[in-house]
Amino acid sequence: MRTTVAVVNEQGGDFSLEEVDLEGPRSDEVLVRMVATGLCHTDITMKGFLPAEMFPNVFGHEGAGVVEEVGADVSGIEVGDHVVMSFRSCRTCAKCSAGLVGYCESTLLLNYMGLRMDGSTSYTRDGSPVFGSFFGQSSLSRHAIAYADNCVVVDKSLDLTRLAPYGCGFQTGAGTVLNVLQPGADDSLAVFGVGAVGLAALAAARYAGAGTLVAVDPLAARRDIAERFGAIGVDPTDASVVDRVRELTGGGASYAIDTTAIPAVVKQAQQALAVRGTLVALGLGPEEYTLDAIDLLQNGKTVMASVEGDSDPQEMVPRLIAMHAAGDFDLDDLVTTYPFEEINSAVADVLAGKVVKPLLVW
Ligand SMILES: NC(=O)c1ccc[n+]([C@@H]2O[C@H](COP(=O)([O-])OP(=O)(O)OC[C@H]3O[C@@H](n4cnc5c(N)ncnc54)[C@H](O)[C@@H]3O)[C@@H](O)[C@H]2O)c1
Ligand SMILES: [Zn+2]
Ligand SMILES: [Zn+2]
Repeated sequence: MRTTVAVVNEQGGDFSLEEVDLEGPRSDEVLVRMVATGLCHTDITMKGFLPAEMFPNVFGHEGAGVVEEVGADVSGIEVGDHVVMSFRSCRTCAKCSAGLVGYCESTLLLNYMGLRMDGSTSYTRDGSPVFGSFFGQSSLSRHAIAYADNCVVVDKSLDLTRLAPYGCGFQTGAGTVLNVLQPGADDSLAVFGVGAVGLAALAAARYAGAGTLVAVDPLAARRDIAERFGAIGVDPTDASVVDRVRELTGGGASYAIDTTAIPAVVKQAQQALAVRGTLVALGLGPEEYTLDAIDLLQNGKTVMASVEGDSDPQEMVPRLIAMHAAGDFDLDDLVTTYPFEEINSAVADVLAGKVVKPLLVW
């Protein structure tokens, strides 16, 4: 079939709305008509991060839509189902069997190679392959091919334009708190970078009953939003961020999360931790971080990372929907909708800090 995608034609290029051919669904695939697709910072990073030979490429990994066709071997999904799409996992390897689907042994092949497992692409243009299958969806598109493992069926009464970011950004922030750190009332949490991921972490930390919450971000508008989740805002352009966070948390934060992917900020986040504190670095981009080795050793600190907040989307997406219904996880007004043809404006706006979570709607 023909469909319209927002394709990136060359490394670092803008998104371009173009017609392509879409092949499938094959027996293990489903065809989804997108209602809304969230833009995650990872989509923007990927445009410059992937090697030149992996373009043209269709990104998008926060798709939400309606199932239009179901392959013969797919179970658990029916035509007409509403789905929130997330990342892929094989669901059979040792990591998947242990519930750690973000660390699936086939993660790279299933999510990042731009191809199906047999080396084909679901999108072609004038007979030439267009890389796709990003997170097993490439949902910056009107229609996308997805899989039973990365489609979470949701109630049809729910607003898909609010749920799309649950598939990555919101799930990652919330999962880092609820699955990885699990803070209690005596624990403090400092979040460095309060965009979509960082704010979701703060919302989950408040829900979890964590103690002092600190939000470090140069954008005053984002610090203001963070304050709505009970966090104290810190401007990193002020003299000493590390000292300020340590002061607010009574000597250092029990936990810190970095979403900036800025090496100097990761180091600050480590230094702002209390003795035996833990930092989770979530950002994508730099190849290397530099840690304060003496501080790390003397104070027995832990620096770790997490894929999608160690979430299994089949559990985390319904959990966040239930929390939202109970009034415990309301990020609705972080979402700003744009018509799909305005995708490059959406990118510019989020990079300028004008919006938190841009959502493309057809
Ligand atoms: N680990 C995962 O599985 C996973 C999942 C989703 C996203 N990500 C990554 O997480 C990161 C955050 O994604 P996002 O969509 O929330 O991005 P975002 O751009 O909305 O948020 C980043 C925030 O960092 C702030 N910032 C910039 N400089 C700063 C500084 N010096 N100190 C403190 N804050 C500063 C920005 O103002 C912004 O608010 C990205 O790198 C993305 O690729 C990782
Ligand atoms: Zn993402
Ligand atoms: Zn697996």
